[in-house]
Amino acid sequence: MSGLVTELSDYAEKLIRGRHATRAFRPEAVPEDTMRAVFSLAGAAPSNSNAQPWRVEVASGARRDRLAGALRAAHADERTSVDFPYSEDMYTPVHQERRAAFGAGLYGALGIGPDDHAARAAYDAESLGFYGAPHAAFLFVTGDGGPRLAADVGAYMQTLLLAMAAYGVDSCPQGLLSFYADTVRDELGVTEGKLLVGISFGYADESAPVNHVTTERAALEATTAFHVR
Ligand SMILES: Cc1cc2nc3c(=O)[nH]c(=O)nc-3n(C[C@H](O)[C@H](O)[C@H](O)COP(=O)(O)O)c2cc1C
Repeated sequence: MSGLVTELSDYAEKLIRGRHATRAFRPEAVPEDTMRAVFSLAGAAPSNSNAQPWRVEVASGARRDRLAGALRAAHADERTSVDFPYSEDMYTPVHQERRAAFGAGLYGALGIGPDDHAARAAYDAESLGFYGAPHAAFLFVTGDGGPRLAADVGAYMQTLLLAMAAYGVDSCPQGLLSFYADTVRDELGVTEGKLLVGISFGYADESAPVNHVTTERAALEATTAFHVR
């Protein structure tokens, strides 16, 4: 490997493996020039035929606060609205094992026991306040919002998370926020697209134990086959 490639792969290892979901943020805002650099870089994401079928809405300041309040109210009134249907049945047993291991680590760090469903639900409701992050980005899939276009927006999401990490900005993708699609639309005046995911972002509160939860990944062989003949 050439020197440049070695250097880039070292950076990539650090960047990709160094990104983690952050679930406790400090209140400081991300400076506007950093914000523009990050979202501009994320726009370099690949998409089928370069259609770029994403629409991104970023809430900060008073708008972020109003939205957090509206999400909490929608949750309290059980006013959920999803653009992409969700079902526990979509997971295989092996997915469920990985989810359970993740849940044990997360809720363990929070001091919430495995059978304390009320405390888990309360924590999830609390997370509608973006884990204290000063900003939240909402990724909408435009066009027919079908799976192929949603996959493009998934590629955008990961590019955005890595762009944030590269600029020292911490993040948490939150599928939960997409369960309140109509509330997000109303509060941000969005008229186009289906809401795939929300991403809370800002700067991590490193003193919070929840930010030191680690997650495992399946072995390479469990997910990937190399075919040669
Ligand atoms: C599409 C998507 C939705 C997610 N939804 C949530 C969520 O609603 N709440 C949350 O705390 N974390 C959520 N996460 C974060 C995952 O739990 C996290 O990425 C995973 O456990 C791996 O951990 P890591 O990101 O720290 O590597 C989501 C991640 C993705 C990619």
